Amino acid sequence: MCGIVGYIGKEQKALETIISGLEALEYRGYDSAGIAYLNNNHIDIIKKKGRIDQLKKQLDFKIKSKLAIGHTRWATHGEANEINAHPHKCGQVTIVHNGIIENYIELKQKLENKGYQFKSQTDTEIACALIDYLYQKEKNILKAIQTASHKLHGSYALGIIVDNDNSLYAIRKASPLIVAVKDGEKFIASDVPAILKYTNEYYLLEDGDIVNLTEDNLTFYNNDLEKIEHEKMIFEGNIESGKKNGYDHFMLKEINEQPKVILDTINFYFDGSLESLKKNLPNLNKYQNIHIVACGSAYHTGLVAKTLIEEIAGLPVMCEIASEYRYKRVFYNDKTLVIVISQSGETADTLASLRKAKDDHIDTLAIVNVVGSSIAREADCTLYIKAGCEIAVATTKAYTAQLSILSLIAIKLACIHQQIDKKRFETIVKEIKNLPNMMTSLINNKQYHDIALKIYQREDIFYLGRKIDYAMSMEGSLKLKEISYINSVAYAAGELKHGTISLVEDKTPIIAIITDDEIKNKTISNIKETKARGAYVILVSNYEEHDQYCDDNIVIPKIDPFIQPMLTIIPLQLLAYEVAKLKGCDIDKPRNLAKSVTVE
Ligand code: M6R
Repeated sequence: MCGIVGYIGKEQKALETIISGLEALEYRGYDSAGIAYLNNNHIDIIKKKGRIDQLKKQLDFKIKSKLAIGHTRWATHGEANEINAHPHKCGQVTIVHNGIIENYIELKQKLENKGYQFKSQTDTEIACALIDYLYQKEKNILKAIQTASHKLHGSYALGIIVDNDNSLYAIRKASPLIVAVKDGEKFIASDVPAILKYTNEYYLLEDGDIVNLTEDNLTFYNNDLEKIEHEKMIFEGNIESGKKNGYDHFMLKEINEQPKVILDTINFYFDGSLESLKKNLPNLNKYQNIHIVACGSAYHTGLVAKTLIEEIAGLPVMCEIASEYRYKRVFYNDKTLVIVISQSGETADTLASLRKAKDDHIDTLAIVNVVGSSIAREADCTLYIKAGCEIAVATTKAYTAQLSILSLIAIKLACIHQQIDKKRFETIVKEIKNLPNMMTSLINNKQYHDIALKIYQREDIFYLGRKIDYAMSMEGSLKLKEISYINSVAYAAGELKHGTISLVEDKTPIIAIITDDEIKNKTISNIKETKARGAYVILVSNYEEHDQYCDDNIVIPKIDPFIQPMLTIIPLQLLAYEVAKLKGCDIDKPRNLAKSVTVE
């Protein structure tokens, strides 16, 4: 979603700092970009539809400016064009905004009655006018921002500058915003990559906090305008996470990082002993049922965990899409654990679901990548995955790292409920040690490009699987559609003949997944049904037999079901990647998508 960068500094490097910051936030997804900067006591605003490169062409980087705010916009209210792009200026106030102002129509009417006229279709321009109106009334910008925060409903991170005031201000509510300082320069940003060029130290704002940055001072206020202190955070990753390091795309780089990421994540919680699981994972003894809530790929990891926990540990699990969960009637009790999963830790629907469970006094556990994110801070207990900064919009390493923690949780539950014996536990430990090597071999498999060549021009591609393989199919299908724009649907294999098989015609690609012995023959029968109607079948399986029912066969090593999904996903990621590459798609920044979905 939208990215914000703000700068104030004696070095007067505002233009280049804002642009490099916005470029580092490109992964969030956007369709226009803009900047407002102080130029000889005047605030100049330049905005462009499209990529940051378009904006750069309009800028004179020779201009020395000490104060600026910049923005990449992911359109919500009004189409992507220059008028709707941020920054917006009303009266003396100029702002950039990430989030959604829910009551903007009502506010707009009131402000129109006060004489304000609006040029854009955005909710942001209304917020800007509101702050200006309050500023004119109160003659105190901090007070104006504070009062505005009580009148604005919804989510917002705002970067604010004011005519004739050499200061940068910011406020946040339910949208991420960080603050950083390096020598004589100060920054605000939506996420850490924007400031990594300068420093890996930053501050997080709490909801309602206001910050004032001047050339000499950094002052944090709570929403009562009392001065407060914030603890300095250190970003664990490094600037390399923002570079492609020789790979064509961040997605490919991140796929290749998976063996290390799962090793780092598993080693952090598990040293091969049951004691480490007892010590490093929360106490799960009292729970009789689990709800897993997440969006997109994180939801798909939840579906995998549901199968593992139910099938092996024997505990009922409800896995629900967060945008549904937050509004539905949910049945839980004091023996329910609600697990929310989110790479960014800022996904609006997942955060709202977490809050719903907390309001009902249900225990919550979050599995999150971004340290200090809203979900991480609000959950009763947070387990961090060790994926590092994920840049590609299509998640790969965070997905696999989530799987690795969920596998450990499932193993722990299976031990608590005495569903696995010592021998199986020891086998899993051995296989985990070898997992990174097995992943690397699969990543280096040469089949993906050749298979992609056979299917990349097709309009529809179906994925099939049963039980855990169905959950994997859903992730494979999402990967393909989000980066290649090919229409793709995942089906529970047995469901096909209840309607969808009518879509299968000569050479329709079917990607079938079989890793579960129990239902192997059932899925094979379904594959044969598609083959009989001309389908082109690509089989991803953990057995060697070649049969007349598949056209291509990708064989993955067979390991314990608790950890098998971390291997199954690799061919699915790389097939999607190769198909998108052949189609010439913008793999790291697919159209219309945002990395962090901070609005519902
Ligand atoms: O940050 P989150 O894990 O909460 O994000 C959830 C989804 O938006 C995310 O997984 C999305 O589906 C990915 N783009 C899929 O690759």
